[in-house]
Amino acid sequence: METIKVGLLGLGTVGTGVARIIKENQEDLFKKTGYHIEIKKVLVKNLNKKRNIELSEDIFTDNPLDVIMDKDIQVLIEVMGGIEETKKHIIDAINQGKHIVTANKDLIAISGQELFELADQKKCDLMYEAAVAGAIPIVRALKESLAADDIVEVMGILNGTTNYILSKMTQEGADFADVLKEAQELGYAEADPTSDVEGYDAARKTAILASIAFSSRVTFDDVNVEGITKISARDIAYAKDLGYVIKLLGVAKRENGQIEVRVNPTFIPNNHPLAAVNGVYNAVFVKGKALGDAMFYGRGAGELPTASAVMGDVVEVLRNIRSNSNGRIGCTCYHDKNIKDINDIVSKSYIRLLAKDEPGVLAGVTRILGENNVSVESIIQRGGRSAGCEDCATGEAEVVLVTHTVRHEQLQKATKEIGKLAQVARVYNIVRVEEGGK
Ligand SMILES: NC(=O)c1ccc[n+]([C@@H]2O[C@H](COP(=O)([O-])OP(=O)(O)OC[C@H]3O[C@@H](n4cnc5c(N)ncnc54)[C@H](OP(=O)(O)O)[C@@H]3O)[C@@H](O)[C@H]2O)c1
Repeated sequence: METIKVGLLGLGTVGTGVARIIKENQEDLFKKTGYHIEIKKVLVKNLNKKRNIELSEDIFTDNPLDVIMDKDIQVLIEVMGGIEETKKHIIDAINQGKHIVTANKDLIAISGQELFELADQKKCDLMYEAAVAGAIPIVRALKESLAADDIVEVMGILNGTTNYILSKMTQEGADFADVLKEAQELGYAEADPTSDVEGYDAARKTAILASIAFSSRVTFDDVNVEGITKISARDIAYAKDLGYVIKLLGVAKRENGQIEVRVNPTFIPNNHPLAAVNGVYNAVFVKGKALGDAMFYGRGAGELPTASAVMGDVVEVLRNIRSNSNGRIGCTCYHDKNIKDINDIVSKSYIRLLAKDEPGVLAGVTRILGENNVSVESIIQRGGRSAGCEDCATGEAEVVLVTHTVRHEQLQKATKEIGKLAQVARVYNIVRVEEGGK
């Protein structure tokens, strides 16, 4: 029986799942690849930590060189996270001719190009299915199954923590801070939730998806990012009234040679497939000229779901080794990106503001919108505390407007002017709205 030796960088949540699948599915993995898989070395930080899986003690090390420089190891599975140090380990391993499977979106979204170019040169595989949307096989679908199509849009719910928070807020009418606290207690949100709630995690995944979908290198810095911290129970209630749900969306669109790439809370019409994606689930909606619409749905994180994606990559690497075809796909970013300026992004928008409940206020607001070429699709005005507006002082009302499609720059200018009106106490929130709804 031929054996392939693999090294693991990390044995935390994902690493433990990977080791478990290797142990438990050994026989099937052999039948599918023709190789017996042996974990030769595992890098961890703390050698004394109790592990959730039984592995021989002598394979553990806290010295990265023991894994990277081991000539018997052909495949390096990187599930330790981190950027600079991890990048160096991966570069050293590729230079040793090792194939890499990683779950590290942070690293791929920032340094993907450099690593892919090196892997191409060395004819090594560098695979990263688990880096985007965990268990959902979207990277391979875009790179292989849909390779002949012209993909025009990829839109996804890519962060389980924020989707859990927004789903709970929608189901229970609860406020952001309360649901975040509960999510932290349940282990669905980190103690420091910044990367999730500010949209950075989703932005890294959106950058990776945009790069693959449009064959053009898009990095984290190219993504315009807005998180969900400003979304309140009031916004969610208005969304419901208007026929929408609010989701944190990663959006990548290609039009007229330009790539629009952003992450922002979005009003999605109730009848859109993404509107039904709740809790910690992720989904990616793809529009191709030949394909039409397709949606990929599943678990975006967790020990075994993420490990399933990692091991799918390992199986492919092994099959490539068997057929001597490693590095066969390589870097597919052959176009030069032209990222759309945020000011040129066009969408419908929701605006919620607090104003005096007196004649002429709406006329003032709509005059400013008109002067800035912003036309209004619908207006709701709800007076006072009896309508649930806790911020409303006597004689104040909440006004909600949904605009028709408008350039970002025009909308910003108009809302700034509206905020300066004497009768307007506060502009609470502006949220993008996807086409559709009632
Ligand atoms: N968790 C998920 O559901 C999920 C989903 C998709 C992608 N990912 C990605 O998968 C990667 C791993 O995530 P995870 O949740 O499994 O992380 P984790 O539970 O924190 O595990 C990290 C592992 O790496 C080891 N490690 C970290 N830094 C090290 C260092 N400097 N030197 C040596 N060992 C080090 C740790 O050692 P000790 O055990 O000794 O501390 C631990 O075993 C990350 O890139 C993450 O973004 C995770």
